[in-house]
This record gives sequence, C-alpha cells and structure tokens, in this order.
Amino acid sequence: MIPFLNLRQLNSKYDTAFKNAYRDVLDSGYYILGEQVSLFEYNYASYCQVEHCIGTGNGLDALTLILKGYMSLGKLSKGDEVIVASNTYIATILAVKLAGLTPILVEPDINTFNLDSRLIKNSLTPNTKVVLMTHLYGQLCDVNAIRSICDNHQLILIDDCAQSHGARLNSKLISGNLCDASAHSFYPTKNLGALGDAGAVTTNDNTLAERIKSLRNYGFNERYVADYEGVNSRLDDVQASTLNIKLKFLDEDNASRQHIAKRYVTEIQNEAIILPLYDNSQCHVFHLFVVRVANRTAFSTYLKNNAIGYNIHYPVAPHKQQALQELSKLSFPISEKIHDEVISLPCHPMLTDTEVSTIINVVNAYK
Ligand SMILES: Cc1ncc(COP(=O)(O)O)c(C=O)c1O
Repeated sequence: MIPFLNLRQLNSKYDTAFKNAYRDVLDSGYYILGEQVSLFEYNYASYCQVEHCIGTGNGLDALTLILKGYMSLGKLSKGDEVIVASNTYIATILAVKLAGLTPILVEPDINTFNLDSRLIKNSLTPNTKVVLMTHLYGQLCDVNAIRSICDNHQLILIDDCAQSHGARLNSKLISGNLCDASAHSFYPTKNLGALGDAGAVTTNDNTLAERIKSLRNYGFNERYVADYEGVNSRLDDVQASTLNIKLKFLDEDNASRQHIAKRYVTEIQNEAIILPLYDNSQCHVFHLFVVRVANRTAFSTYLKNNAIGYNIHYPVAPHKQQALQELSKLSFPISEKIHDEVISLPCHPMLTDTEVSTIINVVNAYK
C-alpha cells in the first residue's frame, strides 16, 4: 500500500532534532510565546522577506485575526463584503463570518482552481472592502491581476497561504509577502507542518502587526490590561521549535514535491484523467497534486483496489455545506464540477521514485 501521506514517516528525519529541541523547551520553563516563538517569528518573517510575523494558534485564527485587526483599526466595519473563491477550504469563509463580515463567493478558474480574477469585477459593490484569495493546493493566484483590481477599487488584499508555503513569483515575491496581510496554517499535513495546531500572520503593516499581536493575547499590551477585545490564539514553544527545525528544509521539500509533480504531469497519459496545469515554475509548491476525473467513484475504487492512497480536497462545495445554509440558494457550477471531480494523488517529500512510477503505471492503466 502506498499511503496518501504518513505523518510519522514525514517527520522521521527530524527525530533527533525534535527530541533535543523539546528537551530545551522543557528546560526553559517557557511554553507559550517564549523564546522559540520569538525565534520562529523572526525566522519566518526573514524567510517570507516581510517585516512582521505574528504566531497564532492555527490558520483559521490567523485569518480571523487579520480581519478583526483591520476592524479594530477602523478600516473595516461589520457587514463589509469580502470576496473569496467559491471553492476555497471552509476555514477561509468561516474566518470572514467569525469577524462579522460578509463572504461574497466568486467562481474559480477550472484550470487553476484559483479565484478567477476576470470575474471579481462582477461581484464588486459599494460594500466590497476586501479580496481574500486562497492559493489553493499550493499554487499562487493571479496575484498581479488581483492586486490591480484592489488598487483600482481601494480594496484590502489578503491571502490565505495555508497551502502555499514557499511558493514564489520570483526571488523577491514569495507567499507571505504578496498582500497587505497573509495568513498561514502549520497544521501537520501542510508543506511546513507542526506536530499540532499552529499558524501565523505575516505583514509589512506595522500598525496591523501591533494590533494583531495584542488581539491574539486577550487584547493585552501590558500584562492583564486589555486594551481591545481580543482572543486566546497564541503559538506555543513546542510547535515553534518544530517549525524552526523544519523551516530549514522547506525549499528542499518543495523541490521534491515539484519533482514528483513534473513526473506526474509528463508521465501520466490517460484521457480519463485531467491533469493540473504546471509551467515548471516556483509558483506552485504542490501541497496537493489534484487531478479531475469524471467518474470519481470508479477511479477512487480502482486506486483503492490497486493499493494507492488518495484523498478528496474537497468533497462538498462551501455553498453546499449544511453549516453555511445562507449560501445554499446560490449557484456555482464551476465549483460544483470541481468538487464532484477532484481527487488528490500522493505527493510528498518521502515518496520514492519507485513509488511514483508505481502510481503513474496504475493511473495510466485505468480504463
Ligand atoms: C486553505 C486553508 N485555509 C485555512 C486553513 C485553516 O488552517 P487551520 O486548520 O490551521 O486552522 C487551512 C487548513 O486547514 C487551509 O487549507
């Protein structure tokens, strides 16, 4: 069996480094917002070539804190509209709702799975204040086109970088420094994954960074003195030390993912399988390798019978989720097609060339 992803295997190469680091955290006596957190905030800000990194409890909180930060600074008000892709992971939409804002769903481009910049204009109203784009599956959105729409309409541009750690447009423009503020998740399966929940905000905006730093810790600037209505979403030192170790390998791990993706894109030749577009650039870090298949049930049964792990990201479109009833009357045919057809093949740094060949052979033999 080739599993879709085995986290124990993925983290095995860090075994000794983790044990030493955890010993140090234990001995330090500081377990939340301690030295390792400060070090990670410094390291990740440097990696993203950005002024500020603020560690948070998870990616959903990072998104919510950016929006609440802007609200707290008076730059957004309750009910303001936020454009998001209709096929994004549910957390992006929940963050908008948790902040008291209104999500406006816009269809993705079926070839990139990312927010279709050509459609954004049709959804703009006087209440539109933010575009929140998700670099889905690890591929950067059409950043330049979306940035110019935001500039023309005085909109704040935020990105959900949960799946795109290390994706680059060029040597200077990297996931995490492309927008006014960026949210990151370090959930264990991510390209940069902790061993528990963890997240961060990156930004060059000094005022926003200061406010989020306060909001993530009950709105305190001084201990036990709450200046704003904050939350508890602090990064802990065990996760931060894990991330400090793994960050050094992120580019190498992303290169492994790209190597596998290049093989899939060139060697999978089966008319039934629609491959993702990949231009061999650094703008896709293949958090997930997602193909489309008309009859997904038949294909997934076939993969299972041939001992190939798979996953579905995601089976239900946000507007079809029971939890988001208010969106249920809307129609997003491209998203619906995507959600009906997508299936993710194994794609991670521990996959061997032999395993990749096996997967390619099995997929090519599918009828
Ligand atoms: C695109 C996207 N946004 C947001 C999140 C939320 O992150 P977390 O699970 O750390 O809260 C995730 C990951 O789970 C994600 O994939």
